[in-house]
Amino acid sequence: MKIAVIGTGYVGLVTGVCLADIGHRVTCIDVNITKIRLLREGKSPIFEPGLQEMIQRNMLENRLRFTNEINAGIDQASIIYIAVGTPSNEDGTADLSAIQDAAVSIAKHIKHDVVIVTKSTVPIGTNDRIKAIIEDHKVDKSIRVDIVSNPEFLREGSAISDTFNGDRIVIGSDSEKAADIIEEINKPFQIPIFRTSIRSAEMIKYASNAFLATKISFINEISNLCEKLDADVTEVAQGMGMDKRIGTHFLNAGIGYGGSCFPKDTNALVQIAGNANHEFELLKSVIEVNKKQQKILIEKAKKRFDSLDGLTIAVLGLAFKPNTDDMREAASIPVISELIQSGARVLAYDPIANENAKRVLPKEVTFCKSIEEAITKTDCVFILTEWPEIVQFELAKYPLFMNRAVIFDGRNCFDPKKLLAYRIEYHSVGRSSTY
Ligand code: NAD
Ligand code: UGA
Repeated sequence: MKIAVIGTGYVGLVTGVCLADIGHRVTCIDVNITKIRLLREGKSPIFEPGLQEMIQRNMLENRLRFTNEINAGIDQASIIYIAVGTPSNEDGTADLSAIQDAAVSIAKHIKHDVVIVTKSTVPIGTNDRIKAIIEDHKVDKSIRVDIVSNPEFLREGSAISDTFNGDRIVIGSDSEKAADIIEEINKPFQIPIFRTSIRSAEMIKYASNAFLATKISFINEISNLCEKLDADVTEVAQGMGMDKRIGTHFLNAGIGYGGSCFPKDTNALVQIAGNANHEFELLKSVIEVNKKQQKILIEKAKKRFDSLDGLTIAVLGLAFKPNTDDMREAASIPVISELIQSGARVLAYDPIANENAKRVLPKEVTFCKSIEEAITKTDCVFILTEWPEIVQFELAKYPLFMNRAVIFDGRNCFDPKKLLAYRIEYHSVGRSSTY
C-alpha cells in the first residue's frame, strides 16, 4: 500500500516508520526543512528509543522516504495520514491552523481517489470540516475522498513499543470501505481494532487523555492528604491498584502531569464542552489540581529553608518524563522559573534534554554535563524526572558532593527508609520526610 504521512513530528514520524516496517511504502512530508534534511541523512530529529535504527533500516530497504514537497509526497499515495500538530491557542482551544493548511494542500494536489486518515488529536467535528475543506478546494470534482478518524495513543519514550503493542486501534468512519482499508493496513500490528463513528473516535481520544490526567490529579490529591495524615501514598496506590477495576497504572503521585498532550487536551476538552453549553467541572478541577501540584516541591523547600534567596540548588531531570528530550509543558519550566525568581542559583542536568531545555528555561540557569557536576557544593537537590540514571545514582555521593544533603524528590524515586543510612534529608511526595 502506498501511504503518505503529512507532519513528521513525534506521531507522524513514528507512524510512518512503523507502517514502513510492516511492509508499506511510506512517504513522510513536513514543512520543516531542517527536519527533512536530517531524516534524509538517516538521523532522527527527536530522541525516541529505537527510532533512528528503524528509520535507517526502512530507508535502506526502500520503503521509507522524506520530502518537503507535498505534491511529490502525495502524488501516488492512495492513503494520506494527517499528523500535524494541534497546539493550544491562548484561550485553551485547539489551534487547527496546521490541520486547515494540510487539508487545503491535499485538496490542491490529489489526482485520484484517496482515504484521508486523521492521526492528530482534533476536536469533535473536525474531521467533518477536513472533508468539507477538501471537497471545496479539490480541483477535479470527480475524485472521491473518504475520511477516517484514527486517533493515536502512543506515549513518548515508548512510542515504537506502544505502536506494536497498543491496547486498541480506533477506526472511526462513515465509509465501510475506507474503514476496511485502514483495518487491513493495520492488521500486521495484531492489535484489537475498534470501529466507531467519526465523532466517537474523536471523543475517545480526548476522553482517554482526560481520564488518565484525572487519575494523576486524583492520586496527587490523595498524596497531599497522606502527608497530613501520616500515610504513605505509594502504599496506598499499590493497595488501590490491586483492585482490577482501578488498576495500578497512572497512580504515581508526583509534581503533576506535563508534556505536549495532557495539558493541551484537558484544556481543549473544557473548551469543547463549553462550546456545547456544558461546564466540565471535574476536568476544570483536574487542571487546577495539576497547576498547584507543580509547585509542591517549592513550597516544601520554602518551609524547610524559610527563604530560597542565595541558595544553590541542583535540578535533576528536565524533560516532562524519562526517555524523551521533549520539554513541552515540562514541570521543570515553572519550577525552575520560580526558583530563580526566589533568588536561588540553579544548576540543571538532564541526560538527554539539556539542549532543548536551554531554549525554554531562564537564561540564568547553568547547565551541567553530569549529576556529580550539578550537585557539587549545592544546598539542596530537586528531582523532577525519574530517569534511570538519576534513580540509580549512588546515594552515598550526595553527602559527599553537596554542602548539605537535602533532597526534594518530585517523583518518589527512593524508599525513604533507605536514605536514612546515607545521612540524607529526604522530602518526597505523599510520604513523611526523613532526616
Ligand atoms: P509535533 O509538533 O512533534 O509535529 C508536528 C509536525 O507537523 C511538525 O514537524 C510540523 O513541522 C509539521 N507540520 C505542521 N504543519 C504542516 C503542514 N501543513 N504540512 C506538513 N507538515 C506540517 O507534533 P506531535 O507531537 O507529533 O503531535 C501531532 C498530533 O498528534 C497532535 O494533534 C497531538 O495532540 C497528537 N498526539 C501526540 C502524541 C505525542 O506523544 N506527541 C501522542 C498522541 C497524539
Ligand atoms: C500521554 C498518553 O499516555 C498517551 O496515551 C497519549 O497518546 C499521549 O499522552 C498523547 O496524546 O500525546 P505522554 O504524554 O507521552 O502520553 O506520556 P505519559 O506517560 O502519559 O505521561 C504524561 C505525564 O504524566 C508525564 O509528565 C508523567 O510524568 C505524568 N505521570 C504519568 C504522572 O505524574 N503519574 C503517573 O502515574 C503517570
